[in-house]
Amino acid sequence: MRITVPVPGTPLDLDTVNLFDPELYAHGDPHTVWAQLRRHAPVHRTTLPDGRSFWSVTRYADVNDVLRDHTRFTSSRGTLLSILGNTDPAGGKMMAASDPPVHTALREPMTRVLSHRALQPHNPRIRRVVHRMLAPLLDGGTWNIAHAGARFPMAFTGTLMGLPEEDWPHLAHLTTMAIAPQDDDYRQSEGDGTLAAAHHELFAYFSGQVTRRKRTPTDDLVGFLVGMEAGGRRLRHDEIVYNCYSLLLGANVTTPHAIAATVLALIEHPAEWARWTADPSLTPVALEEGLRWASPANHFMRYVTRDLTLHDRHLREGDAVVAWLGSANRDEEVFADPFRFDVTRRPNRHVAFGFGPHYCIGAPLARIALRMLFDEIVTSVEEFALAGPVEHLTSNFVAGIKSMPLTARLRPDAARVIDTAVTEEGPVAV
Ligand code: HEM
Repeated sequence: MRITVPVPGTPLDLDTVNLFDPELYAHGDPHTVWAQLRRHAPVHRTTLPDGRSFWSVTRYADVNDVLRDHTRFTSSRGTLLSILGNTDPAGGKMMAASDPPVHTALREPMTRVLSHRALQPHNPRIRRVVHRMLAPLLDGGTWNIAHAGARFPMAFTGTLMGLPEEDWPHLAHLTTMAIAPQDDDYRQSEGDGTLAAAHHELFAYFSGQVTRRKRTPTDDLVGFLVGMEAGGRRLRHDEIVYNCYSLLLGANVTTPHAIAATVLALIEHPAEWARWTADPSLTPVALEEGLRWASPANHFMRYVTRDLTLHDRHLREGDAVVAWLGSANRDEEVFADPFRFDVTRRPNRHVAFGFGPHYCIGAPLARIALRMLFDEIVTSVEEFALAGPVEHLTSNFVAGIKSMPLTARLRPDAARVIDTAVTEEGPVAV
């Protein structure tokens, strides 16, 4: 998604705003649209030419309210605009598409294996993935951080889930197909064909992985789901498959864009890059600003469970409501000078990982991996420069960068340090 700073007074007809249109995020200016919606129409209705419609909430407080309260706003009919109007077959089976108590029963055991503490033994593998990702910088040529970033989460979740390394590139492609089916680089057919094809292949893939582990148990994340109990029983085959899909999708489609958008912000704000590199202990704080700035997951959707009123608008039972996280993260009521990229921003209660019961279960993993990556970048790279056009993903769900060629000037000794690490660590998969 193009990350812009709205120009005050830009004329905009809110009646013609189409937040569904994936092109808006690739070539338009969503931040200008959201800023006006927050100000003039905090609960806004979009009706598509085919008659489907949804409400949008754009203010931080409303976004939090919708994401937090499953009694008024359910996840069980699906949470992404891509399936607006269709009932999600994963409803009540996949953690992300269920409400308490089913959601709680699924989430509680998964939280135990994905907590910061439980992930510590995996840190050396994640560090290996980081060094491998940065190794191509050593030859001094052009490096496409978006392409490298697309492989990054696949490497650590692929290892964690026990998926064969030869499958990673295709899985990464399929997960992007699922969230950007209209993008030229991912579209296979018109209509819903691309999304259906990606789902079909990913579900069949995970079904095979699950069957294999039923025969021969493994101690990876897929094996854990196979043996896991929720609500006093083992998960059914389709429940395991849906949750594998959700974990892989959750990691693959978001993390790369946090990386590329943060680096782009640093190129565009050299003074912030200078502050950060002068004090690498800023990394945890600066990363949170990168997440706020990037807001890789643009929206999550809920359905209204009973008639209710929000800011004088009457919402009916069954209406869809979309919470725009990217907008909430620029709400001027919550963030001082929200369009300023500030690597020392505190407090920074961004909602890039959502809010409430569905708060991203992968946040500890994402933070560990991003922290390791940026620790390395900030101490190794003197300066990044763009080496070609930045291309944005055509998606109303993921605020993504699909191509961003760079060159990097490394600090003295950085090449030797990365090179030694890669040589000593050996391959990623163990
Ligand atoms: C920068 C990286 C990431 C971002 C920005 C992000 C964003 C989010 C957001 C906003 C939600 C809330 C969904 C909702 O309210 O309906 C969420 C949930 C989720 N995320 Fe992430 N995510 C990231 C990384 C990951 C990783 C690494 C994983 C895999 C381990 C993951 C797996 C999930 C799952 C399974 C859920 C559903 C949780 C639930 O329903 O309780 N995410 N993520």
